Amino acid sequence: MYRRKLTYLFTAALCVAACTSAPKSVQDRLTVHDKEIDAVIAQMTLEEKVNMLHSKTNMSSAGVERLGIADMHYADGPFGIREEGVPNGFQSAGWQLDSATYFPTGSALAATWSEELAYEYGKGMGIEARLRGKDVILGPAVNIQRLPVGGRTYEYLSEDPILSAALSLGYTKGVQDQGTAVCIKHFAVNNQETNRGSVDAQVDERTLREIYLKPFERAVVEGGAMSVMPAYNKVNGDYCSENEHLLNEILRGEWGFKGFTVSDWGGTHSTMGAMLHGLNVQMTGSNYLGQPVIDSIATGALTEKMVDEKVRQILRVRYAIEAIPDDVANTKMTSQPECQQIAKAVAEKSIVLLKNEGVLPLKAGIKKIAVIGQNAVLKTQSGGMGAGVKALYEVTPLEGIRARAGQDVEVLYAPGYKNFPGRRWGPAPAKANPLEAAAIDEPADKALLAEAVKLAKSADIVIFFGGTNKSIETEGSDRANIDLPAGQNEVVKALYEANKNLVTVLISGGPTDLRQLEPVSPAIVQGWWNGTEGGTALAEVLFGDIAPSGKLPFTFPAKLEDSPAFALGNFPDKTQGGDLFTLMYREDVLKMSPAERQAFIDALPKPTSKYTEGALVGYRWFDTKGVQPMYAFGHGLSYVTFGYGEMSAAAGKDAVTVSFELTNEGGMPADEVVQLYVARPGATVEWPAKELKAFARVSLNAGEKKTVKLTIPVKDLRYWSVEKNGWDLEHGTLQLLLGAASDDIRQSAEVTI
Ligand code: BGC
Repeated sequence: MYRRKLTYLFTAALCVAACTSAPKSVQDRLTVHDKEIDAVIAQMTLEEKVNMLHSKTNMSSAGVERLGIADMHYADGPFGIREEGVPNGFQSAGWQLDSATYFPTGSALAATWSEELAYEYGKGMGIEARLRGKDVILGPAVNIQRLPVGGRTYEYLSEDPILSAALSLGYTKGVQDQGTAVCIKHFAVNNQETNRGSVDAQVDERTLREIYLKPFERAVVEGGAMSVMPAYNKVNGDYCSENEHLLNEILRGEWGFKGFTVSDWGGTHSTMGAMLHGLNVQMTGSNYLGQPVIDSIATGALTEKMVDEKVRQILRVRYAIEAIPDDVANTKMTSQPECQQIAKAVAEKSIVLLKNEGVLPLKAGIKKIAVIGQNAVLKTQSGGMGAGVKALYEVTPLEGIRARAGQDVEVLYAPGYKNFPGRRWGPAPAKANPLEAAAIDEPADKALLAEAVKLAKSADIVIFFGGTNKSIETEGSDRANIDLPAGQNEVVKALYEANKNLVTVLISGGPTDLRQLEPVSPAIVQGWWNGTEGGTALAEVLFGDIAPSGKLPFTFPAKLEDSPAFALGNFPDKTQGGDLFTLMYREDVLKMSPAERQAFIDALPKPTSKYTEGALVGYRWFDTKGVQPMYAFGHGLSYVTFGYGEMSAAAGKDAVTVSFELTNEGGMPADEVVQLYVARPGATVEWPAKELKAFARVSLNAGEKKTVKLTIPVKDLRYWSVEKNGWDLEHGTLQLLLGAASDDIRQSAEVTI
């Protein structure tokens, strides 16, 4: 009853050898079975076809059992295969074998600046998806981190399109090489959770192309992404799930996408819009792409041919991905040791040393460590809504430190501050938790503070764990600000007064305001939400077993108002809109008749988000406007120093290349992420002060020297010309800026293109 198929890669390889006309692009590989698919479609009834255009359960869409076409099974994504839910909702199905590996969250992966690690990460996700019988991973999530407060900043990768695109490509290939499809999300311009179900992102075409679409484009064009999830929001007036420009003109027309699109859950808005403008599958529900499609064909508004085309696009993926029979799937634990090791490797390379006045690595001979702060013990695998993982295990920072410190070092812990639990989904617990704050800006708790100070005084070193949590940074809402919650500033100040030997570790997915914390922290580490082995990796860095090598994938503004969308008053928009997804699943809304529901939705306010900062997102803004951030994009220190030898640069027809010698001048192995930015003195087209165009992670043993080559494809130097409605290249002088961070440029050279 299940159509057993060779995996995507194998099929493609066979075809390259045997087909008379080899596929032209990665996307064209999906079309190799089109003839067979058309023959199957010819046998299907209209009802069977339409049945494939909407959800069957909360995480599947239907095949056609009669014809041996298996259902399509989806799984969140993006940083661990989500636990099995009940058929019609997200509640746990209570399975025993669905504990997965919890991989570092998006911004942590991005801090590795490594396409290779992103590939490994995707591979790990793909392996575990197959064990669970899943065909499509709802990820990677690759939107640009436009707002420091963004609820999904931690899920997304970077504020920079080149970095995001490289990681998005690596992740996509890693997943799909395992015979699982990605569903790259959220297409497009999904940069805020405020009003996410109704907001209209108003962005000019050049910015759209150069910044917001880049991570999707590479995954589709070079990575062969097989499915795409249109976002909840509107872009320039139209909902993403029925956006002609995004879905038909760009995705299918320009990028040659041959797979299928799946609306975000609750993000389909009409029958005609979806059918005409590029959506294949409504998730979830069938009120738009179910019976109304059949009715519209009867009236002549739609044709069966249109349905055939949508089904063909779905079946291409069905044919490329081997369906796993129910009796084969879920027979062993989802989380696999091989994948846990990948999660560890990513975590080890993601940790960013923001500041170090000689406190780190921890000195030999330390006898007593005071670990202060609830973020040292709180697990981070779940929370944040859709992206949570039921992890097989999770090593917390405190556990990691204890395990590494061994018997001879006393590691003592105090909570230090109350944890702010954020928005509660269920009923309030009968008894309040004394370690939970009632408000995010509640001042420090006197008793907890006194206990922590006492401990700090008695220790050789204090490690303070601050940051946010996954209720504060979460899908469905943006943070009101980037302040450290619940009196953390007060606590760290008191700890520093008690013991100057202090390290701060920030456990968060996005940036925080460090203006008060920085002066009282001789060392600061960005520790992220770092997956199943996060605590192990952190301890390795703190104790100096490995050198830190993560670099910031986003800017830490000194204060929120400095960042572009805030400085220009583009965010927040005061209009009340809402998270359509949450609204639509509200009990009272669910009870409405279809007409009442539609009226309810139509009556929702129509908020907008103006992107007048254009391409000046993140460091592009700070550099161009001369605003000093707290920590710049690309920043990250090591325990060694690196020598940058003289660079040579050349411009060819297709690429600009740079080469130089990089030396590890320290006494331990270490990685450096070298970054190449481009400035355009004298350009007539408007550009940011500088833009990242190439980078590489280089591993060097103590004292080792390597020649590093960086390549910028000339096509990446083009701009989107609104006049020509296409990519164009401005010839002239390019200034190549080579460095260790966007604010640490070591050398420059000029070439002419
Ligand atoms: C999220 C998606 C997710 C989907 C299914 C939505 O709320 O925006 O990212 O894949 O739910 O869980």
